[in-house]
Order: sequence, then structure tokens, then C-alpha cells
Amino acid sequence: MVFTKSAQIHGRKLVELLGSWHGSDRPSSQLLAGAIRHLVLDGRLPPGTRLPAERELAESLGVSRTLVARTLDRLREEGFAASRRGAGSWIKLPDSERGNEAHGGWFPPEDAGVLNLAQATPSAPPELCAAVDRARLRLAEQLPGHGYQPHGLPILRERLAERFTRRGLPTTPEQILVTNGAQHAFALVLRMLVAPGERVLVEHPTYPNALEAVRGLNAMPVAVPMVEHGWDLELLTANLRQTSPRLAYLIPDFHNPTGIRLDAEGRDRLARALARTCTNAVVDETLVDIDLTGEQPPPPMAALTDRVITVGSASKSFWGGLRLGWIRASEDFVQRMIVGRAALDLGSPVFEQLVLAELLVDADEVLARRCAEAVERRQCLVDALREHLPDWRFRLPDGGLALWCDIGAPVSSRLAVAAEQHGVRVAPGARFSVHGSLENWIRLPYTLPGDQLVEAIRRLAAAAAAVPGGGPALLTAPIA
Ligand SMILES: Cc1ncc(COP(=O)(O)O)c(C=O)c1O
Repeated sequence: MVFTKSAQIHGRKLVELLGSWHGSDRPSSQLLAGAIRHLVLDGRLPPGTRLPAERELAESLGVSRTLVARTLDRLREEGFAASRRGAGSWIKLPDSERGNEAHGGWFPPEDAGVLNLAQATPSAPPELCAAVDRARLRLAEQLPGHGYQPHGLPILRERLAERFTRRGLPTTPEQILVTNGAQHAFALVLRMLVAPGERVLVEHPTYPNALEAVRGLNAMPVAVPMVEHGWDLELLTANLRQTSPRLAYLIPDFHNPTGIRLDAEGRDRLARALARTCTNAVVDETLVDIDLTGEQPPPPMAALTDRVITVGSASKSFWGGLRLGWIRASEDFVQRMIVGRAALDLGSPVFEQLVLAELLVDADEVLARRCAEAVERRQCLVDALREHLPDWRFRLPDGGLALWCDIGAPVSSRLAVAAEQHGVRVAPGARFSVHGSLENWIRLPYTLPGDQLVEAIRRLAAAAAAVPGGGPALLTAPIA
């Protein structure tokens, strides 16, 4: 493990990340160590992070130094921290988790015994192998060239442009830039449009990696809360007016994590608000194809205002392992992005682009099966929740790959710690929050096969019963 520079986390920041780590229970080293361990496993405390000194930590947390010292002892014993006299303590991964360090702090290590509900990522469709075979035959045409295509392969840009046009958003191949996934696409746009210290408006909750990108640029996320039925457009418009964000980041097509879609009327209002306040918006369409409604889709946001830059992805429609996404914007903007991109990378892999171009030929069939499977698995998850955790509340998502579940008490981070010990990994609500709040919520993806989902929920129910101070109270607490 090589760290060029270890980050120091301040007591105040750690307290924010820890949220309500002991709930209404007495603080204990067991609870604190569990909460810190969870932050490490879900990537919010990367290995190498230097912890505050014992005294600072005790003061920030409002606990005794003895409790902090015991917590550090526990973390050291479990292999999650190391200390050296004079150098303080820092986060590390236990040897058993080491093989996965290449993932960085972000993706928790895979563990054969653990059912992973922390990521809403589907496996590859069976059609992928045939697409690979066809792409292999087309590769020969590419080999005489140098292989660098910073804008993307022409055939892929053409097919992506055709898909936008078919959805009611006329698009030329020159308006498409192929990227290494939607996250890369968003990071490129951010870098192009936003300077450190500027504001970026986000829905709250929102997709955690987008928040990381905003924070990584030292820009300031401005959180606009989602309400039960989706977007409070009056509030959103007021925020656009009052905070003058440099950019908005929005997920109107099966919002992650709630799975809600913004309807046609809402889109009109949003487009008008963006135009009136002269705010550019990135509309993230990563989940647009996972439409579980069976209804006619509303128009793409970019068809309603030229303030919208669309980012898309092959990850949910086809497979995350392709690591391909795209930006759809004006030709001029795409041209500027190609120039700006050179500072970071010089294009996406040719072979994967050929594979995606092949997959797009039969996209409608692949996606019809993918959505049918998602409906089936969503039902398995719903049935398992009704049986094992009947008091948890959720709204059936319109699309996407996860349920956003109200667990009835502000203990989701502690539940996630307990869940890990029961062999299931979950993403607590705080993960989707700008301030580490949303402790009443948990995101439950339905991407695993049905039998694994049922087993995961059974384990989660056992974990909920074991959460200190939770148990029956957690299961029956009234929902605010
Ligand atoms: C809303 C949203 N945007 C972006 C991404 C990342 O997509 P990609 O794998 O294409 O980088 C995800 C993945 O979960 C997502 O849910």
C-alpha cells in the first residue's frame, strides 16, 4: 500500500460523518469502533486517513478520553487502525481485506460470505458475449489506425445519437462525447464549468459519487430536499434564484436513490426555472432505460431547454464492466470538452466501444428483458420486506434498481454496521446525504437474484433486531 500523502480528518468532520452513532444508547467503545469501521468499509474514511488526537476526538464527540482510547484499542485489534508514538493513529485495512485495496476506499471489499446490497449494479446480460464476438470481427478495421479517439468511435457516437433522436431529442454524432462512464462524464463537465468554491445544486438525497466529485473539486453542494412524491419544484426554483449555483446536478429519470421519475409537467417547470435563472444543469440519465412503469416516457430534459447537458451510461442498461458513458451537449460544448479532456485522459478503449455499438443494435430486446427481470426482483424484495420487516416503509420506485426505505428510526448507519456482522452489506441513508444526515433511510437494491434477496432481507431483519436500542423499537417506531 503506497500513500503519497495521508489526509488528516478533523474532529468536527469525523463527528459529522459519524452522525447519530450511538442513538439513544450510552456511548461505548464498541458502538464507536463499529461506526468508524463502517465508515472505512463504505469508503468514507479511506485507509491512510490520520485520525484526530485522542483529546480532540474526545472533545468533538463529547465523550471521555478513556472511551476514545478503548475505541482505538479495538480498531487496532481488528486491524482497522494503526498508531505510532509521536505520529498518532491512522486508518488501515485489516490484512483480510487487503486484496481489495486496489478498489480504493470507495468499493467495499467483496467477501464470499457477504450478500452485497450496497451497490445497485446488475450483472452483464447474456447478449454481451455475442456482442463481444461481433465486435472482435470489427476490430480488424480499427487496427491500422492509432486507436486514440478522444471524442469516441464514430459508429458508437452515431448509434447513441440515433437513440437520443428516437426518444424525441434530435442529436447529431458531433453532439456526443464518449467517456469512461457517467461518473467520468460528470467529473469532466464539472471540471469544465465549475471552479473551487462555486456552488453546485443537488437533490437531497443524491448519488454519492456525484457528491464526491463536487467535493473533490472543493465546490459547494447546495442540497434541495426531495419530498415524498419527488421534487419540490417551488423550493428548487427558489434555491436556483437565491443561491445562484454555477451548475445543477439532477437525476429526473429514476432518481438515485428514490427511483422516482419527474413527470412531463414537472419537466416543463424545471426547464423554465433553469432558463429563467440562466442555470446550466447536468441531467444524469444513467438509469433512464430501467423504466418499470410501462408508460409512455416524458420527453428528455434536454429537449425542453438548451441549458441541459445530458450524461448517460452503459453501466445499468448493459454492464458496468464496459466502463463507458457519454455526454450529449451542443457541438460547440463537445468540441471544448474534447480539448479539456486531454489534460485527464486521451479517450476510451476502442474494443469496449465496439462491443457497446454492437449491443445497441439489439438494445430494445436486451432492455426489455433487463426491465422484466428488475420488476420480478423488485417484487421479491418487496415480498421479503413485507414478511421480515413489515414496518419499513417505501414507495414503489418507477424505475432504477433500488428501493429507498424508511426504517422508522435514525439508526441506519448503526444498522449497516450490524448488518455487516450478519453477512449483508447495505448503504445507509447518510451515504446519499450532503451532511451525513438521512439516518432514517436505507437504500436496498434489487439487482441480486431473488433467493439471495430474500436471504439478505432475512439477515437484515436479524441485524435490525440486534441494533443496540433498536430491536423491537426499531421495528415498530412511528415514522415521522
Ligand atoms: C445516478 C448515477 N450516475 C452515475 C453512475 C455511475 O455510472 P458509471 O458506471 O457509468 O460511471 C451511477 C451508478 O450507479 C448512478 O446511479
